[in-house]
Amino acid sequence: MQYRYFTKDNLKVSTLGFGCMRLPILNDDSGTIDEQKATDMIRYAIDNGVNYIDTAYPYHKGNSETFVGKVLRDGYREKVYLATKLPVWLTESYEDFERYLDEQLNRLNTDYIDFYLLHSLTKKTWEDIKELNVLHFLDEAKRQGKIKYTGFSFHDHRDVFKDIVDSYPWDFCQIQLNYMDRDYQAGLEGLKYAKEKGLSVVIMEPIKGGKLSNASEEIQKIWDKSHIKRTPSEWALRWLYNFPEISVVLSGMSTMDHVIENIKTASDGIPNSLQQEELKLIDEVTKIYNEKVKVGCTGCEYCLPCPNGVSIPDIFELYNNVYVYGTKNQSMNIYNNLIKAREDANQCIECGHCEGLCPQHLDIINLLKDANGSLSR
Ligand SMILES: NC(=O)c1ccc[n+]([C@@H]2O[C@H](COP(=O)([O-])OP(=O)(O)OC[C@H]3O[C@@H](n4cnc5c(N)ncnc54)[C@H](OP(=O)(O)O)[C@@H]3O)[C@@H](O)[C@H]2O)c1
Repeated sequence: MQYRYFTKDNLKVSTLGFGCMRLPILNDDSGTIDEQKATDMIRYAIDNGVNYIDTAYPYHKGNSETFVGKVLRDGYREKVYLATKLPVWLTESYEDFERYLDEQLNRLNTDYIDFYLLHSLTKKTWEDIKELNVLHFLDEAKRQGKIKYTGFSFHDHRDVFKDIVDSYPWDFCQIQLNYMDRDYQAGLEGLKYAKEKGLSVVIMEPIKGGKLSNASEEIQKIWDKSHIKRTPSEWALRWLYNFPEISVVLSGMSTMDHVIENIKTASDGIPNSLQQEELKLIDEVTKIYNEKVKVGCTGCEYCLPCPNGVSIPDIFELYNNVYVYGTKNQSMNIYNNLIKAREDANQCIECGHCEGLCPQHLDIINLLKDANGSLSR
């Protein structure tokens, strides 16, 4: 295992972190963790050098934290740094912050959390919780010893990200990054910005939630050009380990094979170790994926809220995923949930409100019809 420095105290964290959001489950129910398998996987990872465990209040329908608390018995808690996150969207008062943190300590069966994050900040949630004095709460929780280091995870535009970075003496942040998302949300620019401002950086969705692990024949042909044989997941992880600005790459591993492979990959993940030819191959794969994009929606959400509730960027993402990553079944299942919530493309009344707002000048009304044709059963 490779280790990198983390926070201003130069803690040594494993470059691979265990994300506890996609643990093995039973009966196809994300709320029912297969505890035997997941315990074996997490303890194997710790026994083989992983010392960063990431969970959050809502993962596995609220059961991930309690489960992690159990896994870390028998001396494992002392071997790891534990990260969890405040579910900011559920909080309505200062007292809620305190209540959730105490509940999380209880669930995790621990007296302190090493790395505490404000979960999934967006412009709106950030503004809401600032009003409720969340920064004072973080200071107080630190002073009381309930949390050691403060950070935030992020899902919004880069300018919002920079604003948050500049608003508080954070120890670290967690951003979505993989070779397909270089320019998405915080992106590579955000990574460098945070690092320059003294924050350590943790990466989530390094394999794009698994989408980059399955190579089509066309993509596999490109990987095969390399004399070094790597699986598509290894390529995705190695691309990230190449950045010295990154401290931890979280992977949400769902089988023991993933754990074994990702530990091996992390052991070779030295900064700046990829050769130019290897980086060129990754760029080539990125280009091919990008050429398959059906709708050039950047997910900026300027089109929202739709007066009739259509989830426009979500629909375009599902539509693109079918063609880019071949996730037809998965996209259709998620689209079915949008239909149930009456947020699907059929709700469009063609008012054109969105088209006037789209910075990409997309023909949204017609594209929604195309997406609906592709995603409906
Ligand atoms: N704070 C936030 O807002 C936020 C948001 C997202 C994630 N996170 C955290 O970040 C962690 C990492 O994100 P992620 O779970 O999306 O990570 P990821 O590594 O991009 O995706 C995990 C998925 O990739 C596939 N995978 C992983 N290793 C593989 C391997 N060696 N070979 C083949 N497939 C492999 C598996 O998919 P299959 O099971 O389909 O094969 C696995 O479920 C999460 O677990 C969570 O802790 C935080």
